[in-house]
Amino acid sequence: MQHKRTATKNPQTGDQTSRHYARISATIYRTQSSLVWNLAMSPKSHLNRLTTHCHPLLRACLVALALCTSLPTVAQDTENGEQLFLTFCARCHGILGEGGEGPSLKRAELVHAPNDDTLIAVIVGGIPGTGMPGSWLLEGKDSVDVAAYVRSLGQLPPEQMPGNPAAGELVYQSNGNCSSCHILDGVGNGIGPELTGVGLRRNSEYLRRAVTNPDADQPKLVDRFRGSLNAFLTVRVVSELGTYEGMRVNEDAFTVQMRDLNGELYSFEKADLISYEKELGHSLMPGYNAALSEQQIDDVVSYLMSLRD
Ligand code: HEC
Ligand code: HEC
Repeated sequence: MQHKRTATKNPQTGDQTSRHYARISATIYRTQSSLVWNLAMSPKSHLNRLTTHCHPLLRACLVALALCTSLPTVAQDTENGEQLFLTFCARCHGILGEGGEGPSLKRAELVHAPNDDTLIAVIVGGIPGTGMPGSWLLEGKDSVDVAAYVRSLGQLPPEQMPGNPAAGELVYQSNGNCSSCHILDGVGNGIGPELTGVGLRRNSEYLRRAVTNPDADQPKLVDRFRGSLNAFLTVRVVSELGTYEGMRVNEDAFTVQMRDLNGELYSFEKADLISYEKELGHSLMPGYNAALSEQQIDDVVSYLMSLRD
């Protein structure tokens, strides 16, 4: 498939950002109005928020003090859990737990967290080797509250599919030609990320964006906290032998490895290069807005949503 370079930006991205900020300020407002409630229910989590902007040493002392003074309570406080979820989890799992960079949590059964103990362990310790970081600040009662809130999300109805997954599978295999770049259940070329189980990891809005405007979820800045998106960073290398563009596979201080659109793997010594550039916000995947009809896009998004194991 011909690689098209799409320089145009999605006009919706700006809208989404401002909506996102509107939602965040609504959250801050709610956080303030429930200040008294929070202070009474969970002094430690409240301190976490209060101390976010102060000196790290002072913050450490305050958090330690709060840990010593907080009384152990057995009751689960889903309101506290919700507030903490918005602060620590929503940026990856969505404001309503609907997913985004992280999987939707609106599922009755979680793969890595079949029971409450494992769920709490995942919240505090993360899932090593994946984009799921641990939140050690939540250790103790706060992690119990967040776990209770995550469980309550599992009782919500799952997302509706916009189209027909069986028709979407045909699009995937025929005019989409998706397997020329993606592996699914062991079939295809692994230039792009593997799509097996992608319906568990991403929500429908993210999947639609991935198909129609692949640039949108490319990393905009090198941010160590957005681990699973940094994995798709596009890089451009100019050496004496030519220019190479591909997805970064690995990088250290002296070398960089990348895979190009033909699936060819390259390794370069940085010192020998004429230039090495991280192409932030630029995907190697073509946008499908023009190549597929709206119905076909709905169908292919539904097919991706159905890939759940
Ligand atoms: C930086 C983004 C990010 C943040 C922040 C984050 N997560 Fe995750 N989370 C992920 C990703 C990515 C995965 C999928 C890991 C995998 O299996 O590859 C995940 C997986 C999970 C899972 C396992 C789901 C399953 O089906 O097994 C749970 C539960 C979870 N996260 C809860 C949370 C909670 C609660 C918070 C806040 C305390 C949180 N996450 C914060 C990115 C994040
Ligand atoms: C020319 C190669 C190429 C083709 C063809 C291609 N993709 Fe991709 N795709 C990529 C690359 C590279 C990425 C990772 C970078 C990014 O997100 O832009 C990606 C990312 C994705 C993601 C996001 C995965 C995740 O976990 O975040 C989805 C979903 C996806 N592609 C679906 C599709 C579908 C469906 C098709 C066919 C309609 C398709 N791709 C065709 C190269 C391709």
